[in-house]
Amino acid sequence: MNPIARELNDTIKGTLLDRVLSDFGRKIFFPRGIVAQTTEATERAHRFNATVGMASREGRPIILPSLSRVIPDLSPDEAVSYAPTAGVPELRRIWRDEIRKKNPTVGDAAFSLPAVVPGLTSGLSLAADLFFDVGNTLILPDMFWGNYRLIADERHGTKIATFRFFSATGELDLDAFAETVRTATGSKLLLLLNFPNNPTGYSPNFSEAERIVTILTAEAEHRDIVVVLDDAYYGLFYERNTYTESLFAPLCRAHKNLLAIKVDGTTKEEFTWGFRIGFVTFGGASIDATGYDVLVKKLMGAIRSSVSNSSRIAQSLLIRLLTSAEHEAEKKHEFETLKTRYRKIKEILASRADHPRLHALPFNSGYFMSFRCDGISAEALRIALLDSGIGVISIDDVFIRIAFSGVDTERLPELFDEIFHHAEAL
Ligand SMILES: Cc1ncc(COP(=O)(O)O)c(C=O)c1O
Repeated sequence: MNPIARELNDTIKGTLLDRVLSDFGRKIFFPRGIVAQTTEATERAHRFNATVGMASREGRPIILPSLSRVIPDLSPDEAVSYAPTAGVPELRRIWRDEIRKKNPTVGDAAFSLPAVVPGLTSGLSLAADLFFDVGNTLILPDMFWGNYRLIADERHGTKIATFRFFSATGELDLDAFAETVRTATGSKLLLLLNFPNNPTGYSPNFSEAERIVTILTAEAEHRDIVVVLDDAYYGLFYERNTYTESLFAPLCRAHKNLLAIKVDGTTKEEFTWGFRIGFVTFGGASIDATGYDVLVKKLMGAIRSSVSNSSRIAQSLLIRLLTSAEHEAEKKHEFETLKTRYRKIKEILASRADHPRLHALPFNSGYFMSFRCDGISAEALRIALLDSGIGVISIDDVFIRIAFSGVDTERLPELFDEIFHHAEAL
């Protein structure tokens, strides 16, 4: 093992982190190579800086005029220079403050400075690099974003164990969750929770959120737990009784044997899908400043060895957006756009509550709602809709997922009329 990796591992000996890192997580380190030497030179090389592989003139990055013309407000540095491995420090601090503001339960609990990654997918994959091993089991609800299978199972050989998401009465099936947590084998428990959920559009209410935390805290008495929180759709909560914090907030201070990893980003939260900017943040009751430093260095090693760093121009634009005086009002406006669509769908479904073929699963948040297809093939319904020029997603031939985020409110009645019509005609 590389001496720097050994040094990092020695500083966390005997702690939770020592026990839960994957083989790769133990091996990886951030080299004292070009990036680290460049950082040193940025601070100290006042005469010539001949370190980084960028082209500059008179101390500023070269930028082609046809590009600078379309982004007049950004300096060449903000537009085209490399971003630091873990992201532009100002953006990292802004996002840390955002996490505290959105999650009052965090209180004065410590967590790592969020590290910038190229979108949530990358954040999830990097978290998996550091903690998922061949032979580990990852617990997921039976309704989950399909990409988790590629990340956990195909990339890391980590098997997926699911629990039933909804009970027969339409609440989260937390008895099934508790049972799966209790009976999963292994000394390290891996979980991935995603609220608002893709594909159902469900988020827990207060008592459900509390029970999830209680179940995990109790289990942490017996073994180590790593919980990844995929908060892609954070903030799109449309009902009053919904738990509006990330589960990262209670979990990051829940138990000494529990590590919470928050993966979030501006993709959906700030309506910047193609910017490719996400964040990875670590929190755990037993982790001190040294532990967070080791985690971030290992994450930086994983970033450096895969994507190197994230888009600089996207980070510069986000700093402008997040510090703009109008930002909050603009975001609220678009939240209301999505909430109006949600309300319209609830209104449409109220008159179709006992449809024999399409059963709406509970939803209260996010971009999506899903139907369970009873007695018909979801894939056949998808194809029939496609033949009429309508695109929806079919899952396991049982569910269809509708992204109402992509349909204007006025056109929702027509869309749902078509869906019901085709389901009846099959
Ligand atoms: C639950 C969930 N997580 C993560 C992502 C991916 O986000 P990103 O585009 O930032 O990689 C998506 C995108 O559809 C998603 O639905």
